[in-house]
Amino acid sequence: MKFTTTRLATAIGLSLTLGLVSVTANAAPIVIKFSHVVADSTPKGQGALKFKELAEAALPGEVEVQVFPNSQLFGDGKEMEALLLGDVQIIAPSLAKFDRYTKKIQIFDLPFLFDDMAALDRFQASPAGQSLLDSMQSKGIQGLAYWHNGLKQMSTNKDKLTRPEDVKGLKFRIQASDVLEAQFRQLDANPQKLAFAEVYQALQTGVVDGAENPWSNIYSQKFHEVQKTIANTNHGALDYMVITNAGWWDGLPENVRAALKTAMAGATEHANKLANEINERDKKLIADAGKAKIQPLSKEDVAAWRTAMQPVWEKFQDGIGVDLIEAAKASNQPS
Ligand code: LMR
Repeated sequence: MKFTTTRLATAIGLSLTLGLVSVTANAAPIVIKFSHVVADSTPKGQGALKFKELAEAALPGEVEVQVFPNSQLFGDGKEMEALLLGDVQIIAPSLAKFDRYTKKIQIFDLPFLFDDMAALDRFQASPAGQSLLDSMQSKGIQGLAYWHNGLKQMSTNKDKLTRPEDVKGLKFRIQASDVLEAQFRQLDANPQKLAFAEVYQALQTGVVDGAENPWSNIYSQKFHEVQKTIANTNHGALDYMVITNAGWWDGLPENVRAALKTAMAGATEHANKLANEINERDKKLIADAGKAKIQPLSKEDVAAWRTAMQPVWEKFQDGIGVDLIEAAKASNQPS
């Protein structure tokens, strides 16, 4: 009798377990919507596609990554809100777009802070840089990685664009960043915050005269077709933080979160390796298209832009933190 009861209990236990296994096996995959505002051909576009490939290969049938490029799902005015509401699970806004969530990330917009992309990479990999990935947890945002795009170039609908005085009085589209607003005010220009999806039309119709973006964004959005001159200023960086909804991320099964972390590391390596190559390719394609003139700058020209923009640092250093700025400056020295 005892034997039978035990066997019965075992059988029930077994069938429950099998039932659970079959429920798990048939369970719908976790859908991860990854929304961004640029083209597939850009560093961010390539990174998002790589993440999909790696995540789905690591977790077959368990996750489905849906990538929405080109502001298809959410424009950059709305994507952060959508992330917090759970309407999208991963986004990768430019580091210029975190003003409302933390002042520390404003550091990335300080003009001429990083000598080149290698310095920016060193800072992002440093303890100070990595700590910023966790700096918005109290707002429900978890940073997962930094992705590179490249250095920004200044462009206008004028023939002359060599020195800061050439942009006096001009209207510039800027990302939603108070630092960038101050940067253009410092140049006696008129900045206007506009979503990325609205830039082409704003340039085309003359709502604004100019903009600033890396070559990959200029080319993929055809901004060079509606600008006369692009000066090779390299005056700041445009990079991204890949972020997720902290509550959603923490609620994932442990094995899924671990595999997604690995997939994200692989996608980051891929995107960051490609970024420079894509920007160089697109610079050449812009030159070949012959629509906008690419204006090379002398050392003296670049120094003039640097001097003109330098006062911006002082305005933001208290909010960012002097220590963080020092750590970023130190990254200009290869160790
Ligand atoms: C911009 O708004 O100019 C960029 O942040 C777009 C992007 O995501 O690269």
